[in-house]
Amino acid sequence: MKLAPSILSADFSNLIGDVKRVEDAGCDMLHIDVMDGHFVPNITIGPLIVESLQGKTTLPFDVHLMIEDPDQYIPQFAKAGAHIISVHSEACVHLHRTIQLIKAHNVKAAVALNPGTPLNVIEHVLEDLDMVLIMTVNPGFGGQSFIEPMIEKIRSLKKIIEDRGLSIDIQVDGGIKVDNVKKVIDAGANIIVAGSAIFGSENIPEIVTKFRENSRA
Ligand code: DX5
Ligand code: ZN
Repeated sequence: MKLAPSILSADFSNLIGDVKRVEDAGCDMLHIDVMDGHFVPNITIGPLIVESLQGKTTLPFDVHLMIEDPDQYIPQFAKAGAHIISVHSEACVHLHRTIQLIKAHNVKAAVALNPGTPLNVIEHVLEDLDMVLIMTVNPGFGGQSFIEPMIEKIRSLKKIIEDRGLSIDIQVDGGIKVDNVKKVIDAGANIIVAGSAIFGSENIPEIVTKFRENSRA
């Protein structure tokens, strides 16, 4: 299991301090939630902030674009140091083209699916992907409750990936806590995003250890 803390729940007035806390606690990547106030109601951070973290942490940048017309900004996020970029299928008119654009910038490509979006929208692009991001809440805010029927969606995706003999990561994002991490792992997810559960904790190393223990339990 890889753990990707979402900096949406970090203290933005001390961003690098919080990034160091999750790096020191042994997390695997930094999940960066980019929101534009159009695709989702919230506005968060842009490429300048991502760039400002470049070279200051060893954690790879996992950039989750919750924005309209992502093609327009992919080059900037690539330049800002993104290791992997997720675009929402719902925001892409030409999904295949967008995936190729990400890869042309030597960045790993992922597609994110809202809870209401069926898996079949990625059926014909799956071979081009490094990761699929299954949203387990409706995107826009941290601290929401996990949407239970997503377990079945993760299971179905895992089966499709296995049936085709592919090696594609399954990331889950939204409402993941130490007490439900086991069931998403059992369903087939291998990258866990957690925002409020990690940054809302008084003791980050302890909560990270709990996530790892519970995922194996
Ligand atoms: C939601 C974001 C998530 C969010 C998760 O739109 O994509 O990454 O930060 O936060 P928690 O873990 O608190 O649900
Ligand atoms: Zn996210």
